[in-house]
Amino acid sequence: MKLRAPQIRIGFLRPTSVRGQLTLQYTAIFSVTLVLAAAALYGLLTWIIYWNIDNELQNEADYVKQYIQFTPQGQPELAARNAGPDGSANLNALFRIAQISDSHGRLVKQSPELKGLGFSLQPSELQRILAKRATFTTHGWPREEEIRFANAILRGPNNQPYLLQIGTRLKPINDALETFLWVMLMLLPVTVAVSGVAGSVMAQRTLRPVAEVTHAAQLITASNLSQRIPASGRGDELEELAETFNAMIARLQASFQQMNDFAANVSHELRTPLQAIQGETELALMSRVPLAECRRVLESNLEEIDRLNRMIRNLLVLAQADAGEVQPRLEAMDLNELVRDLTEQMQVVAQARGVELRAVTSAPVPLKADSLRLRQMVLNLMDNALKYTPSGGRIEVRVERHGAQARVQVRDSGIGIAEEDLPRIFERFYRADKSRARGLADGCGLGLPMVKWVAELHHGQVEVTSTLGAGSSFTVSLPMEAA
Ligand SMILES: Nc1ncnc2c1ncn2[C@@H]1O[C@H](COP(=O)(O)OP(=O)(O)OP(=O)(O)O)[C@@H](O)[C@H]1O
Ligand SMILES: [Mg+2]
Repeated sequence: MKLRAPQIRIGFLRPTSVRGQLTLQYTAIFSVTLVLAAAALYGLLTWIIYWNIDNELQNEADYVKQYIQFTPQGQPELAARNAGPDGSANLNALFRIAQISDSHGRLVKQSPELKGLGFSLQPSELQRILAKRATFTTHGWPREEEIRFANAILRGPNNQPYLLQIGTRLKPINDALETFLWVMLMLLPVTVAVSGVAGSVMAQRTLRPVAEVTHAAQLITASNLSQRIPASGRGDELEELAETFNAMIARLQASFQQMNDFAANVSHELRTPLQAIQGETELALMSRVPLAECRRVLESNLEEIDRLNRMIRNLLVLAQADAGEVQPRLEAMDLNELVRDLTEQMQVVAQARGVELRAVTSAPVPLKADSLRLRQMVLNLMDNALKYTPSGGRIEVRVERHGAQARVQVRDSGIGIAEEDLPRIFERFYRADKSRARGLADGCGLGLPMVKWVAELHHGQVEVTSTLGAGSSFTVSLPMEAA
């Protein structure tokens, strides 16, 4: 099935959606950064301009100061002639916006332009300048009338202080700064809007794979688990997400498949013995069947019922194991003892089948394990060896220590297992070459899954080697400090 293109809503942004949140955050961060940057730029620009103006005014005041002379009456005069013809013009130009006040705040000299502006310095302002020795001051209101002054102290004939002020009008600078501010303010909403749209598009692009995952997840149903998210090839986190999702679906698919197989297997395994019981019972109920025959039927039915019982018990244990509900009941035990005991027990069966069964045990192999389950495990392996070894064969059950591991090996000279069957014999209900196996013995394919589960319950493992026609060897390794 082909994957439809994911539906991504481009319309109204929901603030609760990830895309909406990303866009909002992006826009907010961008706007705040922009405002801060604009404010910093405005501040820096103002500072640089004022620094330049002040520098220049200072130079001018220093220059003009040299040419101020006092008349015998104590009046300050601009001795422009001392500066030569060029210097004189220059000096007069510098004294364009300038004034000199005495220490009482009386204006003793003022340039015509300053007079024209109607500017006068309050005595309190003068006192403040003199007291603070302020080098630069700004006077005037409103802003268009503002004048920046460089203040310099002159000494009169009797050493009394005079204040020389050389100034410049701030209007052109204030106008330029104001224009800058307006441009910034007008650009702000535009840039915020652009960044909002860009953020939204970026978020949408980034989240497209998420939308694909969502869409794929919507398409997946129990009957359509083959659906996968196509690989983007970008190798980013979202592709990782898609891969994880695909892996999860693959696992789900595998377990659904297992469940289906399991149900089919269980019904098959239940049907065969039930049909046998039904057939035999119907036969026995027919009139004129001798009592001895009825008894035989009942015995045979009992065998089938016993087999069914065993199978259901095993299934129940495996189901509990799957649910992780089974905890091993650990106790100190000796593996040698367990194996010797079981071999003795099975000797009758082995003899009946004409098979030689022997145990090879060595020094004690102490183990902390669930002895009932271990017993079941070894019994299952021995049961298999007996079932699949024809008369005249040999079975050896060996216990040994291997480093920190205890090992039980059940080796037989039986029919062996084909190579293609080996990887599957631990699957539930799997039986290699069923017809042949049936010919030899009845089973339902739950023995080895049980062996594997018990080994794993004790943090151990099972290995198998087998040659078709020559025999098999099953080895269970368990850590001595199991569980
Ligand atoms: N020792 C063995 N020699 C040859 N084949 C074996 C041996 N042990 C297991 N097998 C093969 O592996 C299959 C699975 O074994 P398993 O013990 O799970 O099932 P079973 O013996 O058929 O039935 P159950 O144990 O439930 O009565 C067997 O059907 C058989 O084909
Ligand atoms: Mg078995």
